[in-house]
Amino acid sequence: MSYTKYTKFNKIELEKREWPTKQIENAPTWCSVDLRDGNQSLPTPMNVEEKLKMFKLLVNMGFKEIEIGFPSASKTEYKFLRTLIEEDLIPKDVTVQVLTQAREQLIEKTFEALKGAKSAIVHVYNSTSELQRRVVFKKSKEEIIEIAVHGAKLLKEYSKKYPETNFTFEYSPESFTGTELDYALEVCEAVLEVLEPTAEKKAIINLPSTVEMATPNVYADQIEWFSKNIKNRDNVIISLHTHNDRGTCTASSELGLLAGADRVEGTLFGNGERTGNLDIITMGMNLYSQGIDPKLDFSNLNNIIKVYEECTKMTVNERHPYAGKLVYAAFSGSHQDAIRKGLLAIKEENNNKWEVPYLPIDPHDVGREYEEIIRINSQSGKGGTAYILESEFGFILPKAMHEEFGKIIKEKSDALGSELNADDIFKYFKNEYLERKQPYRLKTYEIKSLQNVETDKNMVNIKATISINDSDKIIEGTGNGPIDAFFNAFHKYHVNGCKFISYDQQALESGSESRAVSYIQVESNNKRYFGVAISENIDTAALNALVCAINRSNS
Ligand code: KIV
Ligand code: ZN
Repeated sequence: MSYTKYTKFNKIELEKREWPTKQIENAPTWCSVDLRDGNQSLPTPMNVEEKLKMFKLLVNMGFKEIEIGFPSASKTEYKFLRTLIEEDLIPKDVTVQVLTQAREQLIEKTFEALKGAKSAIVHVYNSTSELQRRVVFKKSKEEIIEIAVHGAKLLKEYSKKYPETNFTFEYSPESFTGTELDYALEVCEAVLEVLEPTAEKKAIINLPSTVEMATPNVYADQIEWFSKNIKNRDNVIISLHTHNDRGTCTASSELGLLAGADRVEGTLFGNGERTGNLDIITMGMNLYSQGIDPKLDFSNLNNIIKVYEECTKMTVNERHPYAGKLVYAAFSGSHQDAIRKGLLAIKEENNNKWEVPYLPIDPHDVGREYEEIIRINSQSGKGGTAYILESEFGFILPKAMHEEFGKIIKEKSDALGSELNADDIFKYFKNEYLERKQPYRLKTYEIKSLQNVETDKNMVNIKATISINDSDKIIEGTGNGPIDAFFNAFHKYHVNGCKFISYDQQALESGSESRAVSYIQVESNNKRYFGVAISENIDTAALNALVCAINRSNS
């Protein structure tokens, strides 16, 4: 690995840095750049319909500033902005932002595209870093300042031609993180001298980590230094725009806010050039989970994901913070146990505070559900199989049966050498219990009620046809209930040394169509066996469960 060809980023000399001791107290002003930075980096950029759909989503989420594109760059971009304006699709409290390079033709076209807009942010940029000046533009520092100042002058000049629009100006020293700080300040102040912002009509200075080059604390130092050194700080909105080259753009934006920034640009799910932009959902939900109103609505994340995926043709990763398919799922038994206890404690304490181990937020807040994923393998506890039968198929096994069935499943998993899913488990449950019809099978039965006058007790007499290894036999017995009578009948004719242990019964579905499931345990030769059966008739379920238990004890 030739890591020696890379150079370490120099630390920032910042005396008495303040950001490390601060806390974020409020949401910043958000600006979505989905329709520009996000769009320009898509393998298939959005068409006008898709851009409209995305715009509506952003508006519904509560964005008040939306960079809608680069209208001078293509017909689609131009047409999209005209559609928004001509069809009156921009709500009164929403300001559209447009990006342009500092070139007259492009600026002229940009203003033309904005004609009729009530308010707009015109965003001009040029690259300022040492590397870009030397390698790409081959221009001196002074020449780069000239480009920026020229752009600012054009913004002022063209804005005067459209007095019906309330313009705000934004300037980005593109590649700011690779720009000498004092020089970045010099460029921005030269631009501001032209724009002449005031405290009432501020200009936006956007300080992008166009390429993320260092740890987030370095970006925070750059922002704090800039915010403390810029003249007339009150006339300026300091905006952040972080990319994710090192995977730390969320931290960079968060620390940048601590360092004094007012505004944050980003996209949904971090779509954007290369490794992407800041994900506003992550940053917004980070605020939310600290009890801070993010001023954006994430309560229907599934719909946000749906529209995002339809428009961008990108997918949201299963592990994406707050949004991924798996982020509210627990696989580990100990995590599940802790979560169950946490959820129970919340119910009991009833103080409207969320404190659940392994779940930093309540999934319901973003329209999601907590999911327990139980994987059954030879190492799983016996409770796991019972939990699957209950949660997936509605069978509430008696506690004493957990061990018996857990052992059966463990042996199957051992033999297969793989994990079993819920369907596999149900298949083995059916095989072992519900479909166990040999050697005995109950074919018909008749129950009569008898009154024993001498003991003054109700008795039951049962007459049943059973098939024994496929030949029929009639058996008869009396007892204090159908199960007792049937057990006695069975004993009389066939089964010796088998003892009745327990009987449990539950309804499988609720309502009039419901079926009963019976669980009966018997003991034979000092070993215990469960039998299970289902029927719409309670007696049939119980008698068949007994036959099942006897069959299992015979195998
Ligand atoms: O990343 C960047 O520097 C940009 C600018 C145009 C603001 O997208
Ligand atoms: Zn960008």
